[in-house]
Amino acid sequence: MAEAIKVLNTVAEKYNHKFVYHYCLAGGAAIDKTGKCLPQETLDKVLSADSTLLGAVGGPKWDNESPENRPEKALLGIRKAMQVYANLRPQKLFKELDSPLKANIVGSGIDIMIVRELVSGVYFGQHSESVENTEKTATDIMKYTENEIKRVAKVAFELSLKRSGNLLLVDKANVLATSKLWRKVVGDMAKSYPNVNVSYMYVDNCAMQLIKNPSKIDVILTENMFGDILSDEASAIVGSIGMAGSCSIGDGSRGFYEAIHGSAPDIAGKDIANPIGMISSASMMLKNSFGMFDEAKSIERAIELFIQNGYRTQDIMQPDKKLVKCSEVGDIICSYIIGRSWCQATRSGIWQQLMLIHTGSTCNLQVYCVSNIKF
Ligand code: IPM
Ligand code: MG
Repeated sequence: MAEAIKVLNTVAEKYNHKFVYHYCLAGGAAIDKTGKCLPQETLDKVLSADSTLLGAVGGPKWDNESPENRPEKALLGIRKAMQVYANLRPQKLFKELDSPLKANIVGSGIDIMIVRELVSGVYFGQHSESVENTEKTATDIMKYTENEIKRVAKVAFELSLKRSGNLLLVDKANVLATSKLWRKVVGDMAKSYPNVNVSYMYVDNCAMQLIKNPSKIDVILTENMFGDILSDEASAIVGSIGMAGSCSIGDGSRGFYEAIHGSAPDIAGKDIANPIGMISSASMMLKNSFGMFDEAKSIERAIELFIQNGYRTQDIMQPDKKLVKCSEVGDIICSYIIGRSWCQATRSGIWQQLMLIHTGSTCNLQVYCVSNIKF
């Protein structure tokens, strides 16, 4: 998060914007300070802000919390409250980085956009545990309504039009009733999108095709849990989950931005994590919520330069490259932002309320609220 803030501050300076940051507690840090994984104050602030950036939640320390108070519940609670139903998870392989897949497989590049439904499905269905005939039993309900499918599918159709025009619906329609509904709704919508070629694939096959033929896949549309699983797989084939940012949007411009990696407790506090996923989430926020296209482009270009100039964090390290610490990455990327003359911004005085959420993923859990601070 600290690296993403450095980058946002640099963008603000270069393009003459002012961001107001409010730091809030969620997840493990909130449990430690307030007893609750998602304090009402955090929720209120999130809902009144223009956008929210979130650090990873959780860690082994909170594994024994009740299911309702696990750190992950904070994340799910915010997604639901904000109604950010479309989670965009782009996965692109930088040509300079190594994929664990063979060169002949990644030869023509990998550039996949996963559109994951984010506020419904089995994540939000009823979860229950009981004893039936003396046997422990558990149930998780997966439910989708037509409208829940339509609204996220629309995002995927529109995105496909801006990309190759190929949209792949991933489901398990040979088994699940919800998947059959997804096929029906998406099939009907396809009639209004003559320029989008819709195809269908079962999720098990998709998991395999991502490894065998990733270059053939462009936009994937899928339900909540399949999207969670496939996006981890896709991020691994493009080098490292640390590189992946994500953007979650709903009906308005307000969004929720988070790196797709978890809290990585094994490396927390060692200054070796890869902050590029978080930095690119901030860039997506500028583009998707604030309409700051040049600014977002300057961040994306700076990330490219970072990679092209041979800098690497340990997760993407290669022979003869320059290994840098997490805390150095933001500085290097900021220097490229300042040094390059991308279209100079003419806009000024734009204020955006920006929410930053600290979680229990690092050792430094100091959290405070800041309002109306001019940077
Ligand atoms: C993700 C994460 C979350 C999810 C967890 C932490 C609840 O894995 O954002 O991919 O499953 O959505
Ligand atoms: Mg996940």
